[in-house]
Amino acid sequence: MVKLRIHGPNRLSGEVSVHGAKNSALPLMAASLLCRGECVLHNCPHLSDVDVSARILRHLGCTVHWQGGSLVIDPRAVSQCDIPDGLMREMRSSIVFLGAILARTGRAVLSFPGGCELGPRPIDLHLRALRKMGARIAEDYGCLSCSVQGLLRGAAIGLSFPSVGATENILLAAATAEGTTVITNAAREPEICDLAAFLNRCGAHVSGAGGSTIVVEGVKKLSGCEHRVIPDRIAAATFMSAAAATGGCIRLNHVLPAHLEPVLPAFEELGCSMEWDDTSLRITAPGRLGRIKSVRTMPYPGFPTDAQPPLMAAACLGSGPSIFVETIFESRYKHVGELLRLGANIKVEGRVAVVEGVPRLSGAPVEAADLRGGAALVVAGLAARGLTEVTGLRHIDRGYENLERSLAQLGADICREYE
Ligand code: EPZ
Repeated sequence: MVKLRIHGPNRLSGEVSVHGAKNSALPLMAASLLCRGECVLHNCPHLSDVDVSARILRHLGCTVHWQGGSLVIDPRAVSQCDIPDGLMREMRSSIVFLGAILARTGRAVLSFPGGCELGPRPIDLHLRALRKMGARIAEDYGCLSCSVQGLLRGAAIGLSFPSVGATENILLAAATAEGTTVITNAAREPEICDLAAFLNRCGAHVSGAGGSTIVVEGVKKLSGCEHRVIPDRIAAATFMSAAAATGGCIRLNHVLPAHLEPVLPAFEELGCSMEWDDTSLRITAPGRLGRIKSVRTMPYPGFPTDAQPPLMAAACLGSGPSIFVETIFESRYKHVGELLRLGANIKVEGRVAVVEGVPRLSGAPVEAADLRGGAALVVAGLAARGLTEVTGLRHIDRGYENLERSLAQLGADICREYE
């Protein structure tokens, strides 16, 4: 059993660099399938989800290797069009490979990604869009068999919800489709902009990324390119939550503060002060945290659902009730039960969680049930008095590169123990 052992409380101080964004690296790796030349992703995070994506690329026929912090992908020998069920199950977001495999090979066979710890993860928006672009998709026995005669066709696609994954799949299908694709009600997350920038660097014609309407003029082929993955805004928000929870003062390097704008008001309500320049942000927490009147998770540029769990961990030590409304996923409060074990006072009613601030938390053994919920338990453990042991690290390692090393660098008493 592997666990993180945390002795708290320790006020965090110092500075740390934030790794590249998991939720950008994954679609960028899928996008490399469209390229007829080598792709180099700089600042690519070393995460288990990236490792799974690399295994998918290798299965399809690519060569993938690391050069320091850069991932080098050569997609020229792609010969397969399927993702084995085991790999699909290891990472639900493998669905983002669908559009790229279909566009590259004319076929795609993969199993339904199924639900995940956050509840059902439907892909109806992905499939409806690809069918509109000419894909024939049969769904039976838990398997998706997709094919297209010739090239995918550009289409006008209106999303009923600004789904990040569906927007990415459409972009990847449209980049080399015949004709023009117009996506309305597209996701506006920074990771969408990063994907569009990569595609354009490879010769695609994508305009409007970051807004609700994206236009893609299909091109015949894409070259390879070198691209730097944007910083992980959710990892940054996690470190900010750790500073807030421990009354610390830290500086985050290699971040894009503009991407953090949706979370800054919540930290200001907690009483934190922040200053930033183009690539770094310093956060200073007050002696006792305030309260967040209400934070509602929304698609970008609203408050990001992925930052809800770590921020909640900090709010547990606030000086009044903080209200959370989780509007994106129906089962994203699994960390609450474990936070209660640390002495938090939280009541959940459906999508609403009311966090009553308590003066202190006390260490206990807790288990992560999902990626960001696991990060929340680490944040709370840093502030809790005594020993906190966090298990379920396979969830945390999906999205945080060497989390305990970064936190130890900031003064946390934390180590990974292999029993
Ligand atoms: C991406 O997931 C991220 N994952 C998630 O981060 C993030 O929480 C989410 O976007 C929202 O920002 C990656 O980028 C790999 P969605 P995705 O499609 O694409 C519904 C993390 O912790 N929906 O925007 O799956 C869906 O049920 C992960 O890093 C449909 O109904 O998110 C959900 O309620 C967790 N039909 C909502 O949209 C569809 O076809 C948001 O989903 C697709 C989605």
